Amino acid sequence: MKSQELREKFLKYFESKGHKVVPSSSLIPSDPSVLFTTAGMQQFKEYFVGKPSPYGKRVASVQKCVRTTDIEEVGDETHLTFFEMLGNFSFGDYFKKEAISFAFEFLTQELNLPLERLYFTVFKGEGNIPPDEESEKIWQALGIPKEKIFKFGMEDNFWGPTGKEGPCGPTTEIHYQVKDQPCSKGNLCIPNCECGRFVEIWNLVFNEYFKDQKGNFTLLSQQGVDTGAGFERMLFILQKEENVFDTDVFKPLLEILQSKLKVSKYSNEVLRSLRIIADHLKSSAFIIADGVLPSNLERGYVLRRLIRRVLLHFKLLDLDFDLIPALVERIGKIYASSYPEVKECQEKIIQVISSEKEKFSQALKRALTLLEKISKKQDFISGKEAFDLYQTYGLPPEILKEIGERFNLKVDLKGFEEAKKEHQLISKKGAEQKFGGIGKDPTYEATKLHTATHLLHQALREVLGTHIRQMGSDITPERLRFDFTHPKKLTSQELKKVEDLVNQKIKEDLKVIKEEMSLKEALESGALAFFKEKYPERVTVYSIGDFSKNPPEIFSKEICGGPHVKRTSELGYFKIVKEESVSAGVRRIRAILISEV
Ligand code: SER
Repeated sequence: MKSQELREKFLKYFESKGHKVVPSSSLIPSDPSVLFTTAGMQQFKEYFVGKPSPYGKRVASVQKCVRTTDIEEVGDETHLTFFEMLGNFSFGDYFKKEAISFAFEFLTQELNLPLERLYFTVFKGEGNIPPDEESEKIWQALGIPKEKIFKFGMEDNFWGPTGKEGPCGPTTEIHYQVKDQPCSKGNLCIPNCECGRFVEIWNLVFNEYFKDQKGNFTLLSQQGVDTGAGFERMLFILQKEENVFDTDVFKPLLEILQSKLKVSKYSNEVLRSLRIIADHLKSSAFIIADGVLPSNLERGYVLRRLIRRVLLHFKLLDLDFDLIPALVERIGKIYASSYPEVKECQEKIIQVISSEKEKFSQALKRALTLLEKISKKQDFISGKEAFDLYQTYGLPPEILKEIGERFNLKVDLKGFEEAKKEHQLISKKGAEQKFGGIGKDPTYEATKLHTATHLLHQALREVLGTHIRQMGSDITPERLRFDFTHPKKLTSQELKKVEDLVNQKIKEDLKVIKEEMSLKEALESGALAFFKEKYPERVTVYSIGDFSKNPPEIFSKEICGGPHVKRTSELGYFKIVKEESVSAGVRRIRAILISEV
């Protein structure tokens, strides 16, 4: 079965069970607490906690995902950084019985997978969450013997939430026995055994709980189902291959690479490098197609590391970088019908990777020579040396570790983290002036703009959503500049709404009050804070609102060093003059105050 056939079969099956097919969302999620879309449920997160779904209560999707948690494992039979997830979802509609029956029917009737190779796991209960006896009974009612149902705790059979809070719940998983040979770890071989006899192919999550930021679980008012089946894993089972890299979504890439290899015999090491190149190049292409560029921040940094790792393995295999365009084109072709964006953006993808190559290849060459030299004197790289190499050559620590292995150099990664932290602390001190206030001798104009910045910040949150986070602020007596997280360009209507809201708050002549309190009190009262780590025990909080009301109607509240004006009417008229992108996912607004319009 070809890849496209599997996607279609899955969606058709769930459509026949009353599900609405929803297209894959972007890899850049609207949930700001996660960098990438890591699961099919992410675009539906709010519908699990009660927001009505515009698609109805049953949906199905094939979602592109990026996860870097398993990056170390890439190169084995099953792990990837870019993958697709087949999923069916219920928002307060069906629950365990139907979800399990659908999965079972799809696997055994539609895909004709042999039942004797299927194994199951359920949640055994942990902490305050009871065991999932219901799922166990449902599997048994479908004819699965007790011995094929295994029980695990939170770590294996409980999923979510994505990010800091959200829906979550116990899971039941379906595993497929891919290898026949006896377990290499002893006689007892369970589905999660490291021997690799089993591959998890489908995770069925029963969203019954909400986990808040403090870690408390409460029962959700509605029950939901979120399932995720590993597309590439199912594919290799169906295509009777031994690993995900031999399926039709990878094989053409490996073939191009292998045809150019100068070595005739592949060691495991060579094979691993080839797989890393294919996987990372694919995730890089998809990430770039969704609008991210390499940088030293968040998503951009993940992308940079992925590209640099591709370049490193090219170098280690002595492959020519000129091969990259052909590989990118091939990725576009593989996904032309399911994700046309890669083909559409292929010129841009090639250009971004090539400019990253320009930046990195000289440095990589020098670093390789240097490391070879170091290896003749010592057998380790200290944390400080690793950090210096990162600063000088842009060598991410895991790449350094990989090169180190080639030269028998051990890299002190813990020491690297410490050196990095120390460096950040020093730069933060420098940045304090830039972000924390408006300089030492603020003029009245700058003070007004500072208060306007607080109004703007809150207005953005009200118009666009609470995912808005301040990324920087710079004020001169002439203008304010405010950087914040938001995945896309603001429309002119959104900009107008923000501007109007700020002007309305200026007109309302709200009072600005300053209070001193403990950091804890400030945070608990909902005051916005950005550089938590460096706040002292006691902080000043500026609130802007109508304090004649009981209780006061507070519009904005922020931990801030000030200074600010006394009343918003002092600001005059607020005008946004420019909205632009700073880096992927970060927007910048420039605004001015004028005395009249
Ligand atoms: N959210 C679950 C997972 O990612 C099931 O879709 O495994």
